[in-house]
Amino acid sequence: MKTISILTVSLLLLAACAAKKTAVVISDADANRASAKYPGATLATLQQGKMLYEDNCGKCHGLKSPSAYNEEQWGKHVKRMAPKAKIDKPTEDLILQYVVTMSGK
Ligand code: HEC
Repeated sequence: MKTISILTVSLLLLAACAAKKTAVVISDADANRASAKYPGATLATLQQGKMLYEDNCGKCHGLKSPSAYNEEQWGKHVKRMAPKAKIDKPTEDLILQYVVTMSGK
């Protein structure tokens, strides 16, 4: 019985984590907004940016919601955090494209 409850709790935690990662859903409308600002941006580059953001930016602190900051603030934060996250410039650009587009600000 004890094993079963541990398993249940683990599954619930896993489900909670999965839900957190997919909380931001990228639509075609987002891709259109992104391509107006960033030449070459598509649904695929936004999805890549989301993945890179989740992989690189939640190690030291929780992942901030894209809506937490506006474009200017994200520009500063991502530039300042890039060396901490040890990411290259193309990765930094994709992350910035994603958070700024999804911030909606
Ligand atoms: C090596 C650890 C580390 C990694 C990786 C990291 N950060 Fe940070 N981040 C910090 C620390 C420490 C602070 C708080 C001190 C500061 O603001 O410099 C911070 C602060 C921030 C803030 C500002 C919070 C505020 O309220 O002012 C934002 C936004 C942020 N990080 C975003 C990111 C993004 C985006 C990435 C991925 C590119 C990232 N972080 C990766 C350590 C990290």
